[in-house]
Amino acid sequence: MSFPKLGIFPWLLGILCLCSLCMADVHHYDFFVREANFTRLCNTKTMLVVNDSYPGPEIRVHRGDTVFVNVHNQGSYGFTIHWHGVKQPRNPWSDGPEYITQCPIEPGTNFTYEVILSDEIGTLWWHAHSDWTRGSVHGAFVILPAENETYPFRTPDADQTIILQSWYNEDFLQLIRNSLLTGQAVGPPNAYAINGHLGDTYGCNDTIFRMEVDYQETYLLRIINAAMNEEKFFSIANHTLTVVAQDASYVQRFATDYIMISPGQTMDVLVQANQNIGQYYMVMRNFHDSAAPSNNSITTGIFQYRNSVGGLISNASLVKLPQPDDTNATNTFLARIRNTRVRQNPRFNVPRRINRRVYIAISTNSIPCTNPECVTLTRTRFVAALNNVSFEFPTLDILQAYYNRSNGVFTTDFPQEPPEFYNFTGDLSGLNTNVTMGTRAVTLNYNEAVEIVFQATQLGAGGSHPLHLHGFSFYKVGTGSGNFNNVTDPRSYNLVNPPLINTVHVPARGWVALRFFANNPGVWFMHCHFERHSSWGMDTVFIVRNGAAANESILPPPPGMPVCSAA
Ligand code: C2O
Ligand code: CU
Repeated sequence: MSFPKLGIFPWLLGILCLCSLCMADVHHYDFFVREANFTRLCNTKTMLVVNDSYPGPEIRVHRGDTVFVNVHNQGSYGFTIHWHGVKQPRNPWSDGPEYITQCPIEPGTNFTYEVILSDEIGTLWWHAHSDWTRGSVHGAFVILPAENETYPFRTPDADQTIILQSWYNEDFLQLIRNSLLTGQAVGPPNAYAINGHLGDTYGCNDTIFRMEVDYQETYLLRIINAAMNEEKFFSIANHTLTVVAQDASYVQRFATDYIMISPGQTMDVLVQANQNIGQYYMVMRNFHDSAAPSNNSITTGIFQYRNSVGGLISNASLVKLPQPDDTNATNTFLARIRNTRVRQNPRFNVPRRINRRVYIAISTNSIPCTNPECVTLTRTRFVAALNNVSFEFPTLDILQAYYNRSNGVFTTDFPQEPPEFYNFTGDLSGLNTNVTMGTRAVTLNYNEAVEIVFQATQLGAGGSHPLHLHGFSFYKVGTGSGNFNNVTDPRSYNLVNPPLINTVHVPARGWVALRFFANNPGVWFMHCHFERHSSWGMDTVFIVRNGAAANESILPPPPGMPVCSAA
């Protein structure tokens, strides 16, 4: 008789639901954001930071928790904070991008973000999301397994956050303001940092980051690329790295001598302290494949065994770091990243058929300028575009305008394919693609199966790009070189174990395809995570309409939303 089983099932389900409810914690953090002095590269500068620290404080919670962060602006200009990679189901109000989902938090005021976690697991981060303030306002967002959950591998003995950063001697806000005024690019950074330390390669007696380890213990490195415009190779001399997660989702683990991580991305990597007791270099250097100027210097940290005697085991041959132009090293590493069907992962839900494809050509360009500061220099300024549209930030936020149905802030006519087809990856010097300015969004129906194909072009400086979408994780289902072919290329897609990520590497002279269900109603920014490109207009907005059911609609705005000065 199967009758009794039917009775047990709903009863069991009830217990499970109750338990998951009582396990999810609510956390409260206070972020006091103000200027503080920092000395690096033999120079002292004042910069905006959270709780006087660079990098800022770590948020450390469990899967499914909710975090309230009260952000107090004690500085001298407005900014916002974004919780990079947190999907914020139905809650775009606390997502953060300035003039997209909110107005800046003005000096002397505060705003409490409600950060709603769902299936994210592993490492994410938070950062300011206005002008270039994120250069100094950022920190780790660690999501541990829920209290009744384990890792899908032996529990590491300890974990360590590793934040890769760009260091500028000048002020971040000044840098971008001048750049937009003169139409010229912000130059490369003066140095790079690991967890705020510049290491021993810059000749200024800067401090070096030391990670103390015990022989035979296993460590979980939570690596975050918080650099402004630089993709990074990272490795530890003589030690093997085992990649286990990317962008808060587990991957099939694989061993490697180095990783390649784009700005915005996070990677969880296991490392075992199984070598001779000593001190080993941790190193990072750019992967750089565009024609833009760059600073490809090596930045160091130290992986230091406790009780080690003597100095560094600094034999350069122990450091296996690819050359900055090693495209092959980047592509082979990225091709190894695969989704894994462990039960701790977000439910596997890749669209097999799609309702809509948005094909987006990415470009950097220069156009005539009118600012006197620019005209006297070169008469042209840099811009960047998606499908020939260079994004203009509005002065009232798009989310408010959409929610209140007020007109005049944005339009919904972002082109869903390039307005002109040319040989995107060929020699394009001299080609003018007629960039236009606009605040143009894409509107998606609730739960549509969407594919986005990003096409890199050789316009301007060319090169690869890290494209980031707010509000979602998406599956990277395909990538290739040359121009995307909508008939033959989809045949090569990986719909079996595509990685689930929030920031994707679009290869230079190539393309990448993503898929996701538009199941999160809201207003979601999408942009290049090279800050330079985003500032020049390499951005757009995806608006996802409400579904039919009550739990498929945008939540009401929280109390105390900042108001725009233009309002
Ligand atoms: Cu990490 Cu829109 O950003
Ligand atoms: Cu870019």
